[in-house]
Amino acid sequence: MRNKIIILLFSILYTLSTSGATKEPTKPALNIIPKPESVRILPGNFTLGEGTILLITGVDTDLVKNAISLSRIIRFARGPVIMNEEIKESKAITSFVELSITPKTDPLAREGYKIKVTKNKVTITSGGGPGLFYGIQTFLQMLPSEVCDPVTRSTFNNWKIPCCEIKDKPRYPYRGMHLDVSRHFFPKEFIKKYIDLISMYKMNTFHWHLTDDHGWRIEIKKYPKLTEIGAWRVDRENLPWMERPVPGPGEKATYGGFYTQDDIREIVAYANSKYVTIIPEIEMPAHCLAALAAYPELSCTGGPFYVAPGSYWPNVDIFCAGNDSTFAFLEGVLAEIIPLFPSRYIHIGGDEAEKSRWKTCPKCQSRMKSEGLKNEKELQSYFIKRIEKFLISKNKKLIGWDEILEGGLAPEATVMSWRGIEGGISAARQGHNVIMTPSPYCYFDFYQSDPSFEPKAIGGMTTLKKVYSFEPTPHELNPTQARFILGAQGNLWTEYISTPEHAEYMAVPRMIALSEVVWSPKKARNWDDFRERLDVQFARLGYLNVNYSKGSFRVDVKTYLDKATGTMKARLTSEQPGCQIRYTLDGNDPTGDSRVYEKPVDILKNSYLKAGIFVDGKLRGKLTERNILIHKASGKKVSYLQPYSYRYAANGDVTLVDGIRGTTDHRQDWLGFLGNDMDVVIDLKTPTPIKTVFVTFLHDPDKWIFFPDSVTFSLSSNGKQYHSVNEQRNDVSQKEKGPVIKLFSQTYPDTPARYIRVHAKNVGTCPSWHEGNGEPCWLFADEIVVY
Ligand code: ACM
Ligand code: ZN
Repeated sequence: MRNKIIILLFSILYTLSTSGATKEPTKPALNIIPKPESVRILPGNFTLGEGTILLITGVDTDLVKNAISLSRIIRFARGPVIMNEEIKESKAITSFVELSITPKTDPLAREGYKIKVTKNKVTITSGGGPGLFYGIQTFLQMLPSEVCDPVTRSTFNNWKIPCCEIKDKPRYPYRGMHLDVSRHFFPKEFIKKYIDLISMYKMNTFHWHLTDDHGWRIEIKKYPKLTEIGAWRVDRENLPWMERPVPGPGEKATYGGFYTQDDIREIVAYANSKYVTIIPEIEMPAHCLAALAAYPELSCTGGPFYVAPGSYWPNVDIFCAGNDSTFAFLEGVLAEIIPLFPSRYIHIGGDEAEKSRWKTCPKCQSRMKSEGLKNEKELQSYFIKRIEKFLISKNKKLIGWDEILEGGLAPEATVMSWRGIEGGISAARQGHNVIMTPSPYCYFDFYQSDPSFEPKAIGGMTTLKKVYSFEPTPHELNPTQARFILGAQGNLWTEYISTPEHAEYMAVPRMIALSEVVWSPKKARNWDDFRERLDVQFARLGYLNVNYSKGSFRVDVKTYLDKATGTMKARLTSEQPGCQIRYTLDGNDPTGDSRVYEKPVDILKNSYLKAGIFVDGKLRGKLTERNILIHKASGKKVSYLQPYSYRYAANGDVTLVDGIRGTTDHRQDWLGFLGNDMDVVIDLKTPTPIKTVFVTFLHDPDKWIFFPDSVTFSLSSNGKQYHSVNEQRNDVSQKEKGPVIKLFSQTYPDTPARYIRVHAKNVGTCPSWHEGNGEPCWLFADEIVVY
């Protein structure tokens, strides 16, 4: 009964809003993810019912293929039927769905589509097979979620969809998801389900990480030991990944599995039917312990080796680059890989090669001499270039992780930027294609929510909202360079993921957020709107038996200066739409009776905020706590004379004056400067008497974070000439165990000033005793407090 009233009310509202043709309904009538480029809702509905037939215009293979798969999902009265004169003339046919392709050569036009829905007809047209497939995905998303229920969808349901016009095409040509099947083996059926998910959200690439230290997973007929030995390891699944002992003498290797070449052909064909390209990854020169266990003669030392049952780090044993038989072997492997995968690209890994063996190997050293290579990085570059030459001779293109930049890029290589966006920026500037997959946004093996409520993960924190905020094209690139960014990819490494259910939990819905990042126009991105549409997807994923995560139940706190009132306010948000947030400002734990958050809260004095999500009067998840200071610089403009890093950007430009103090958890509320100083100027807008300025820093050598060498404070009335310049030097040893927080301060006799400059000198690079010796280190600051 309640539903009826709501429907009635909705139709009245809808009629009111459309009959006068004044306003579109404020709520999206269509909950499509990824959001299409343009949607125009028109009056009226189309009903998919007992009389609806499926028509195709032409006999193009892609057209027929798509029509047949659609007719397997939805029951039509007839079809697919080829459009002809008789049908055109027929008065009896009053409801139909029509598919057509007008071939285009531009790849984005081949992936684009148009849908027009009128009262008696749905037409889906595209410039190519993939676009038609994506048009059908959109059409299916326009139908009720029950279209994903295998029982319901096979009956005639008189499903209604609003009349509309949709025009759509992808933003990026490369839209990928990766899966590591080496650290844990995943059955063929799951690989197909993963491909289903990729294609449902209009992604087009599956990057299949088939080989690593923990198992070789693809049959190679020329080298049978790769799977006889390399696919199996001693079963230590009952122990944590980092605590698994190496195999003892005589222990049987029983954990593992591999895909036969027939399996591969079956999966490639399946992916092809859904317009998903599979890029196989064969790791070299490192992450190859499983291959070396089978063929130890390909290493620098000759072995023996074992397939790693758990963490293998540092991964010192790698392919010998001085040995020609290594290249003969790899070319033999690739010669079997190439015909199995129609993809233009082959991924050769290239990441994390620990080169200590190369340094002491006579063959590697002699190769360096004969090829005139200055160091081991150049030897790696030689290795990759040699493999690229082979791939190009077979009409394939090479992709590698961003380490392939070191020692010089292979001439036509595409770079997959994972350690951040810097590798991608550098490659694009050199005119190389780039796929963005920076770990802070695209690693779905990282935590997605409070670790105390989540299954053990490798670390990190990549919330759904963070994935959704990702911008694949860095602003550092000019328009010409930006064209080298092909797109982005989500990566699912599986050290801590051993079952399909867990893999789904980690990948979904973060991959859905990423699908919108790579498909939809940049300006269409809107978190609140996305989060509402996602709830509709959750219903579908339920029917499809996908073990998705509901995301974080954490309350996020952001403070800002309300320009109208001049007061600081705290905005509380979460990933859960419509949830109830309760909070206190006095340090007490909120309860079911505490104040409910409705709008940004005034923070008029120093406060200790605690907030949580409440369901049925009970706290769900953990409380968020923030110590908020109010001072003379609160919310004021900060100019950055040297940039902070996007990786630890906290609350952006306002972080240093947002009042929110960091804790010993480096992942939140700290602004990070990588390798460079923190040099900032705060503009108080009016001359203000200054008594004290202090700034707090974090020190945590394990995280490569060090206190600054010194901090210099100065004041100015005009922002040009500075006075009262005072330097404070750091007196804490760099070896001091972290995390610790230290305050650097400067006092004044009520000196009036409008501008305050704070310049903290970064140590620059990690010290020689540190594991990061010579690499850029971090400087972390949370707040500059002015009294
Ligand atoms: C990687 O995560 N080692 C590419
Ligand atoms: Zn060697």
